[in-house]
Amino acid sequence: MRTGADVWEVFWRATARDGRPPLWDVPADLARLTEVLDGSLPVVDVGCGNGTQAVQLAAHFERVIGADASAAAIDLARRTHPHPNVTYVVLDALDTAAVARLHDRCGDANVHLRGVLHQVAPDLRPAFAAAVRRLLGERGTLHLVELAPTAEAYFAALTAGGPPPALSRVLSAGIRPGVLTAEDVMALLGPRYVAVAGGHDVLPTTHTLPGGGRASIPAFHLTARLARD
Ligand SMILES: C[S@@+](CC[C@H](N)C(=O)[O-])C[C@H]1O[C@@H](n2cnc3c(N)ncnc32)[C@H](O)[C@@H]1O
Repeated sequence: MRTGADVWEVFWRATARDGRPPLWDVPADLARLTEVLDGSLPVVDVGCGNGTQAVQLAAHFERVIGADASAAAIDLARRTHPHPNVTYVVLDALDTAAVARLHDRCGDANVHLRGVLHQVAPDLRPAFAAAVRRLLGERGTLHLVELAPTAEAYFAALTAGGPPPALSRVLSAGIRPGVLTAEDVMALLGPRYVAVAGGHDVLPTTHTLPGGGRASIPAFHLTARLARD
């Protein structure tokens, strides 16, 4: 994995060992996903982690590819979230040749990207965006949810008295949250792409706040595809 040491491998091995779900292990927003993604195309869930969202997508899409750079994540996904419509593959989205082979195998695809791009080092994001474009081809649609700049203040407040256990596991693996904007993503995709939907969102978590309710990290969603004449 070239995304900043092997922090994700460390994290997913620890998660597989202790069995507790990751901080972001919540249901997919299927109402939105089924509305914006072309149901006739496969979906590649890039950075699928333990497969929670990929397996939910499989209830609506005939072919889902759950792809993650971490072999431990893919092993966990295969064991805990099997589904006849899902194929899990170890794939570093920064591996251009492997991404091209996946596109050759499955053709143009929708890309689901939740909480992944903010984890990619800024200098590697253009290469990551090129991989997304390759998977989309001419016909695919990208749906993405990423942490918004206001997430920084939210994390600061959340960790003020010490991080909640699920966040502690993330931090102790060496993972640090990053932030992005929809404009950043559109700039990475390039001028041939249009945003067809987007807006404020939250990334819900598994952590229950002292006053009740789940911690929900400020985020944004974006749906984009190639401009059509
Ligand atoms: C915060 S987790 C999100 C997991 C999943 N998308 C979800 O929402 O439940 C980020 C995931 O991205 C994966 N990842 C990071 N860099 C990657 C890369 N270059 N290629 C593929 N996966 C990557 C990590 O291994 C991790 O599983």
